[in-house]
Amino acid sequence: MKRIIIFDTTLRDGEQSPGASLDSHSKIEIARQLERLGVDVIEAGFPIASKGDFDAVSKVARVVKSVSVCGLARSIKADIEACAKAVKSARRPRIHVFLATSKIHMQYKLKKAESEIVKLAEWAVGYARKFCDDVEFSPEDASRSDRDFLCRVVESVIKAGAKTVNIPDTVGYAIPVEFGSLIRDIKTRVPNIDKAIISVHCHNDLGLGVSNSLSAIENGAEQVECTINGIGERAGNASLEEIVMAIDTRKDIFDVTTSINKRELCKTSRLVSKLTGIVVQPNKAIVGQNAFSHEAGIHQDGVLKKRSTYEIIKPEDVGFGATKLVLGKHSGRHAFNDRLIKLGFELNEKELLKAFENFKALADKKKEIFDEDIFSIVEDGIVSIPETYRLEDLNIVSGNKITPKAAIGLKKGARILKGASSGDGPVDACYKAIDSITGLKSKLLDYSLKSITSGKDALGEVTVRIRSNKDEVSGRGTSTDIIEASAKAYVNAVNKLIYSRSRKTRPGSAKLKL
Ligand code: KIV
Ligand code: ZN
Repeated sequence: MKRIIIFDTTLRDGEQSPGASLDSHSKIEIARQLERLGVDVIEAGFPIASKGDFDAVSKVARVVKSVSVCGLARSIKADIEACAKAVKSARRPRIHVFLATSKIHMQYKLKKAESEIVKLAEWAVGYARKFCDDVEFSPEDASRSDRDFLCRVVESVIKAGAKTVNIPDTVGYAIPVEFGSLIRDIKTRVPNIDKAIISVHCHNDLGLGVSNSLSAIENGAEQVECTINGIGERAGNASLEEIVMAIDTRKDIFDVTTSINKRELCKTSRLVSKLTGIVVQPNKAIVGQNAFSHEAGIHQDGVLKKRSTYEIIKPEDVGFGATKLVLGKHSGRHAFNDRLIKLGFELNEKELLKAFENFKALADKKKEIFDEDIFSIVEDGIVSIPETYRLEDLNIVSGNKITPKAAIGLKKGARILKGASSGDGPVDACYKAIDSITGLKSKLLDYSLKSITSGKDALGEVTVRIRSNKDEVSGRGTSTDIIEASAKAYVNAVNKLIYSRSRKTRPGSAKLKL
């Protein structure tokens, strides 16, 4: 089966996304992850653009072992030299030169005639070849270029030594059938085309970046340029995860493969999102938070009976974790009980009936029902979790020039137990002081604070999620003082942990299996 070369440009075109800027540490972290993901080429940056980018490309070139490292250069001597210098220590260096070939770019941007463009493109490729065997050429704005002229340029740069010729849809203007036929045309009309790899680079201005790339593959393209999460200039580039999963899921249509390790897709997406600060839209295919969530009752029931009724990809195959059934007013009893069991509650028929009634009443008021809501429903008159510890007093010393300290008093039965600790912040100091009293060691997985009333004296609600050994629980606390709300939330979580452990050793009608 033909293998499609995956050329990842997250660190170059992706970094050109408005608002995204990656320092060299972040670029190295992403590059290492891209290597684990199994991409074939990493375009690490545009070395002439800034000293920072030059350094980042050089560092990526040094650390990456199994993947080609590429830098971008205009068809200008200084660009090519900077690029050659930046990628030279890579095991497999590549220089990517580009020059626009559309009338509009040649006339207004470059102010050059067609004959000058051909000469300059040939020269740029030849000059880059002096430094590096692996040279790629891109006729920028290829999809809006005159077809005959484009074919002439492609033929000339291959003669000059380009090993890959990349056809960009620079402004995301092409339509899939049209772009596919452009690739087919180039493949049939350019006489020396067999001496080079044909690549495509599709932007997403009309939301067609992935479709155009797939159409190009069907018409003979051998390399696709893409980015994680589809980030890039303006509306972005074709998304790597979508192209890879389309090829993989529809093997019946695309008779090709890639070397991507699919299980690394979600991890890579999250890392890129975290380091660029670009949030992934919830409904984004493959890696979005809702990509494997089912809300409609009919869908949930179907998925619980047989996953493939509504799922074409197994979430774990792309490293996503389990399918999420989003509970809302459309959910049925089956899905609700399934979630209860996952959260550790096994209710008897009567308890379940009551809990389901409460759930439906809440779902009428609230679009999505989260795990925390389910805890509240069950704890509210159905299963009561004993308050082993109650926050009695709290003293905090904090400031910007001192180490925060907390002294805590927890009531246990008739006794008040005292504990104190310092910490990285007042909340951390509190949690350590509480741990010193309860003797429970836990890891804080999640902490969120929201205001539930308005005004300066608003009531703050803190939700925490903690893990102790394999047990995970959440806790909630409210107060006008956010440190007190934080401490209450933590104590609430600790009480649930203690209760769940006691149920495990002493099974009863309603048990919390965490
Ligand atoms: O979109 C584009 O044309 C580019 C080229 C430099 C390949 O990013
Ligand atoms: Zn681009």
